[in-house]
Amino acid sequence: MVWFQDMADKDDIREGKDFGLGIPQQNRAFHVKGGGALDWGMQNRLARIFNPASGRTVMLAFDHGYFQGPTTGLERIDLTIVPLIPHADVLMCTRGALRSVIPASATNALVLRCSGGQSILTELSRELIAVDIEDAIRLNAAAITTQIYVGAEYEHQSIKNLVQLIDTGNRYGIPTMAVTGVGAEMKRDQRYFGLATRIAAELGAHYVKSYFIEEGFERVVAGCPVPIVIAGGKKLPELDALTMAYKALDQGAAGVDMGRNIFQSDDPVAMIQAVGAVVHKKEKPQQAFQLYQQLKDAMRARNVPDRSRLARTS
Ligand code: R5P
Repeated sequence: MVWFQDMADKDDIREGKDFGLGIPQQNRAFHVKGGGALDWGMQNRLARIFNPASGRTVMLAFDHGYFQGPTTGLERIDLTIVPLIPHADVLMCTRGALRSVIPASATNALVLRCSGGQSILTELSRELIAVDIEDAIRLNAAAITTQIYVGAEYEHQSIKNLVQLIDTGNRYGIPTMAVTGVGAEMKRDQRYFGLATRIAAELGAHYVKSYFIEEGFERVVAGCPVPIVIAGGKKLPELDALTMAYKALDQGAAGVDMGRNIFQSDDPVAMIQAVGAVVHKKEKPQQAFQLYQQLKDAMRARNVPDRSRLARTS
């Protein structure tokens, strides 16, 4: 048949010779805690989130608007967040923010906020799954996420949301990050976070976002069979935020999912780089703070306008 004659390579097929006989094929270990038995697509997505060299991640969280509207520092995501994109491993946001202002040329891993349905004017724990898995796939999400509110009025519904997200994500090889939401009346201690993070992991979450606590954080991490990343929480002085990140990582956290302490900083571009130095280079807080100051001063000296700061003060 003509079709066979036209296959140019067929004339030059050579028998394989180098089979590396005597060299056993290695089964490589996977670097993400608890992820050794996951399928290839799931591991690949997690490897885009957790840097294979450091095992850690800098997630930039700017999903706050999904229940609290135009949060300070996020009034104009195009002005304040877009300049930070080159310095983040992961962007954590809603599909609305992503589609409307984040350039599709950004190659960061995307962790897509998939819950919603409440506001600061109502009961926060009453959420629903607000994104269809097909849309998460369409947006090339590396992971999907929802909040669980252990001990809150709608605890059951929020845990049901997590289970639903995990099951649909598993179908397509997309990992789920569980966020531990804490009601105002909850005590932020080892017992609470140990309980919430363990419940999330036992239900199948592939990693969990929690808060750092001064007492017992190491035990929270040890009791959770998948990675924990810490939220930044309310804005702190830069050195304090870097110290918190350092302590959390030193006690076993696999990274940060930080929002306000970056985008509400005096210099967000400098701050995210200082956070990155703590996360990936294990820089001590003082050194990271010096880096922050240097970067900030250098920007000012070159008269480079900090667009995120201008946007906040104008
Ligand atoms: C809540 O709105 C979200 O889960 C945030 O992504 C999370 O709280 C991290 O942001 P921050 O560091 O500002 O606490």
